[in-house]
Amino acid sequence: MFPGFQRFSFRACRRLTRASLLLIFLFILVVPAYPQDGGQMRPVADMFQPLSRPAEMIHASSILVLAITAVIFVVVTTLLVYVVWKFRRKGPEDDLKEPPQIYGSTHIELAWTVIPIIIVVVLILVASRTIGEIQNRKMPENAVHIRLVGHQWWWEIQYPKEGIVTANEIHVPVSRREGAGERPTELILESADVIHSFWVPQLAGKTDLIPNKKNRTWIEPFATGTFFGNCAEYCGTQHANMLLRVIVEEPEAYERWVQKMKQPEAVAESGPAAAGRQAFFANACVNCHKVDGTAAAGVFGPDLTKLMTRQTIGAGVAALNPETLRAWVRDPQKLKTGCLMPDMKLMDSEVDSITAYLLTLK
Ligand code: CUA
Repeated sequence: MFPGFQRFSFRACRRLTRASLLLIFLFILVVPAYPQDGGQMRPVADMFQPLSRPAEMIHASSILVLAITAVIFVVVTTLLVYVVWKFRRKGPEDDLKEPPQIYGSTHIELAWTVIPIIIVVVLILVASRTIGEIQNRKMPENAVHIRLVGHQWWWEIQYPKEGIVTANEIHVPVSRREGAGERPTELILESADVIHSFWVPQLAGKTDLIPNKKNRTWIEPFATGTFFGNCAEYCGTQHANMLLRVIVEEPEAYERWVQKMKQPEAVAESGPAAAGRQAFFANACVNCHKVDGTAAAGVFGPDLTKLMTRQTIGAGVAALNPETLRAWVRDPQKLKTGCLMPDMKLMDSEVDSITAYLLTLK
């Protein structure tokens, strides 16, 4: 009837297909290349490899949900392809009569109402059972307790019982699946500013950190090693660089870490570190940062006690080493644009000495 229109739409369709194929091709080309830039700092944690009790429970129920939905997908797609193929227009001789009308068929209406309701009820039961089991877990006597406070854009980590405060790297003991070695870690989640979300895919599901509210979650890792997590709720400019590490150790190594964190810092008596210590206390550093056993008692920024025991700087923006530490003291905005620590406009000599002092915090 409209031959011109048909030809046009056919050509447009073909162009659109080509453009989409090109886009998909570019995507495949570019995406794997992207994580190579700093890939070391932010490896992608695989939530299909859970290594902690709550993560395993979530994994099990998600596999069940995935299986149910996969069956639905296969059935629907097969029927659709079959119908499209079977009832295609076979040529100009095909009659264009209306097919039989079945609108209002009680059988069909019942089938596609009742079956989905049953499926949804099963999915609800599966999900609520897992949620209940995770939320109602009683913590045993020997559990580790941590208070985790989200800040723009870093994590404050407190061990109230042990009297330890640190940042961005949680140390916990490994747990056994059963018996006396079972040792979960309870996390009380709070926020100092906006909503953040705790997510370490291999250890537990997401839980939000909400201002003026205490949320609770727990982890129970069955393997030692470093587990990568991140803030999972957009919280401002540097949300993407609000990374978290959970370092799971054998119980003895964990106890050693606890003892080390409680030891007082060694005080340098002379040299650049001593000069740096003076510069640190003469500048505004102490208003925001705390170093145990000194007059530096700021709580606005990360606690710097035993700073050099950490793997990263700036909540995972770079590996922590003398070069990145110096670059951070020089101008944090270069490493982490928009972070709340301003460029302190220090002289070169101060940058060197303050870096030397911070290097002694270990
Ligand atoms: Cu904190 Cu996103």
